[in-house]
Amino acid sequence: MEKMDKLILITGGAGFIGTHVIKLFVRKYPNYRIINLDKLTYAGNLENLRDVENLPNYEFVRGDIVDKDFIDRLFEKHRFDGVIHLAAESHVDRSISNPLEFINTNIVGTVNLLNAARQIWANDSEGKLFYHVSTDEVYGSLGETGYFTEETSYDPRSPYSASKASSDHLVNAFHHTYGLPIVMSNCSNNYGPYQFPEKLLPLFINNIRNNKALPVYGKGENVRDWLYVGDHANAIDMIYHNGRLGNNYNVGGNNEWQNIMLIKKLIEILDRKLGREVGTSLNLLSYVKDRAGHDLRYAIDSSKLQNELGWEPSVNFEQGLELTVDWYLDNEEWMRNVTSGEYQKYYEIQYMKR
Ligand code: NAD
Ligand code: TYD
Repeated sequence: MEKMDKLILITGGAGFIGTHVIKLFVRKYPNYRIINLDKLTYAGNLENLRDVENLPNYEFVRGDIVDKDFIDRLFEKHRFDGVIHLAAESHVDRSISNPLEFINTNIVGTVNLLNAARQIWANDSEGKLFYHVSTDEVYGSLGETGYFTEETSYDPRSPYSASKASSDHLVNAFHHTYGLPIVMSNCSNNYGPYQFPEKLLPLFINNIRNNKALPVYGKGENVRDWLYVGDHANAIDMIYHNGRLGNNYNVGGNNEWQNIMLIKKLIEILDRKLGREVGTSLNLLSYVKDRAGHDLRYAIDSSKLQNELGWEPSVNFEQGLELTVDWYLDNEEWMRNVTSGEYQKYYEIQYMKR
């Protein structure tokens, strides 16, 4: 293989955001060699990456970040220049029913990666970087006003956000204790193509299309800030290349929606696109028991990222929602495969034969 400028490990590249980050990096930086490490849990789907899987600067490795020996060997073998760490258990509801998986992957897995990076960069960390991708949920829950800034104290309230907060603290601890070159970002709710249909938007798009009930938690009063996933991938690109070492950057869409308002907007778009009289699918609304410890409101102040690195969201929400709905309507087979578990066979067929 010809000499590449950088060898970057991206973890969790078969997941929702990872898919977009991998595609951006392998196409934009043909001189970087990108290794995608993913365990392929229920949330990892290699079908997402079909259009880049044969590019010469891309390689997939299946593995578990919780397996310390495997991670040490992988780092020893490849001696990466950079790591962009996205692999995680990411769904709050699952963390409420099974917290341990979140502790293992999000905390132990992150420490394994940090330790392995520390070892290979012990004598020369010039130009090396460990980029940890995190969430705004580490800051806890806001009342009706205010925003999370990079100075907001951590106050995680779900097993998911507590596990991500722990991993953030450990990333900072490795920077301060061992001088590991790190950077980190905390982003608000992402939406867009390839999101697993356990999360609000793809779940509700699929249910509206199939005339299934829409389980609104509580009264639907909770507020989230929504950012198009491609804008998050662009932020990751900018922060990876220009972020200041040891810093964290908040990433958000400045786009707050109360759940019920967002769901009604979605119903309107889908009714229109499906040729139903607008408002027909409102009868699918089904108010169900609230999520335990449900955070009321997240809102992000991303002015540090905007002022320092010149990032800003490029997709406005109206357009982003339309194109997201179009994508799910056009990719019925993807949705069918994902909901039936069929996609997990793809790995066997595609990779075991090699
Ligand atoms: P996702 O659940 O869609 O994907 C996670 C990926 O990690 C999957 O491909 C899965 O197979 C892989 N993975 C899980 N456990 C692993 C393990 N032990 N070893 C190796 N791979 C493993 O998640 P996502 O929504 O793409 O989120 C990616 C990252 O971004 C996460 O760290 C998440 O906390 C963070 N984040 C997500 C959002 C959001 O709105 N989705 C917002 C802010 C931050
Ligand atoms: P989700 O997509 O799970 O993201 P997060 O919990 O990380 O913000 O949920 C977004 C919001 O939608 C959150 O307030 C919970 C709510 N929600 C429902 O009302 N019903 C659902 O079926 C789901 C999955 C979420």
